[in-house]
Amino acid sequence: MSPRILVTGGAGYIGSHTVLQLLQGGYKAVVVDNLDNSSEVAIKRVRELADKNGPNLTFHKIDLRDKPALEKIFASEKFDAVIHFAGLKAVGESVQKPLMYYDNNLIGTITLLEVMAAHGCKKLVFSSSATVYGLPKVVPCTEESLISAVNPYGRTKLFIEEMCRDIYRSDSTWKIILLRYFNPVGAHPSGYIGEDPRGIPNNLMPFVQQVAVGRRPALTVYGTDYKTKDGTGVGRERDYIHVVDLSDGHTAALEKLSDASVGCEVYNLGTGKGTSVLEMVAAFEKASGKKIPLVMAGRRPGDSEIVYASTEKAERELKWKAKYGIDEMCRDQWNWASKNPYGYESPDSKK
Ligand code: NAD
Ligand code: UFG
Repeated sequence: MSPRILVTGGAGYIGSHTVLQLLQGGYKAVVVDNLDNSSEVAIKRVRELADKNGPNLTFHKIDLRDKPALEKIFASEKFDAVIHFAGLKAVGESVQKPLMYYDNNLIGTITLLEVMAAHGCKKLVFSSSATVYGLPKVVPCTEESLISAVNPYGRTKLFIEEMCRDIYRSDSTWKIILLRYFNPVGAHPSGYIGEDPRGIPNNLMPFVQQVAVGRRPALTVYGTDYKTKDGTGVGRERDYIHVVDLSDGHTAALEKLSDASVGCEVYNLGTGKGTSVLEMVAAFEKASGKKIPLVMAGRRPGDSEIVYASTEKAERELKWKAKYGIDEMCRDQWNWASKNPYGYESPDSKK
């Protein structure tokens, strides 16, 4: 029998790519998403891309905080594990509306964990973030590095990680893997699914992609007074990871959950390489043949200088390693953007 996985937030950017990989890997996926930051078109496209395995995807438009609705799903079928992506993720918005973030991310997770426990489903993979490294003083960030939070979004990740560690301490029959993602970019090579943020993008590559298709005039580059390896002083380094590699990391984590030795473990998912904003823009210009006009600006508050992952633990214990570099990330990001300039709402997109 195919293992059945409940995927919260499975209509979103990382969730949709991971669900596709699950289906292709022979899993059954049940997605719970309130479509707050996503479109049901993504679900439809994942089914199409999965071809004969498409019918193994079920979708429920439900808010995680709706406990009776979640109860009903757990009462109607048994799950081998849960992958928990659902959450709000805009750092700036979390500073403006902290209670909205605590309510959505924390109450959503508590409700999920309560329902899982009540139904004896105690295997979880959780989307944490490199944001828990705060403003790291030392790179690469290892899973043992100090953790802290510099905004309410980051604090929700930190609290949920701590909650998971406490749950495991209280009941060692739980098996939990906390995945700390670095900077996911790119799209599925088909160009049929990708990132489609609502409103003005907060993150670098969705913004670049909107400049390339003419939706925005220029990229504002934050910070021109950094110590950078290219000597330009412009922008800082991040560890960009192809979303398909990141999705692979989830199937590796699911496999790891069947190891008797696993309790509550944390893994970085990154490439171990730092790339500056200008290097990323240059790679995107090469992939797309489009010029990205730049406007130089001051530093963005709370931006770390250099963040990249130590990948050793994931390589050793999950047998997982990122395969793609920034050229492939930009190629696939442009393929998605050029085919869907307005994301899933593009007039020409096949719906
Ligand atoms: P996304 O916004 O595309 O996906 C999140 C999904 O969760 C959306 O489809 C949204 O509608 C859904 N959702 C939110 N709150 C919900 C609720 N209460 N009930 C049901 N569904 C709800 O974001 P993403 O980039 O795919 O990120 C997935 C996860 O990974 C998030 O937890 C995010 O914090 C984490 N993460 C993302 C990044 C990144 O840069 N994209 C980096 C590190 C960690
Ligand atoms: N940047 C610009 N202009 C923009 C957007 C970004 O110059 O319009 C720069 C930033 O200053 C930074 C780099 O591009 O140097 C990357 O910025 P992102 O906002 O794309 O990514 P961050 O690393 O700052 O943060 C993201 C998420 C965090 C998460 C972190 C690690 O927003 O929540 O990745 O996963 F914690």
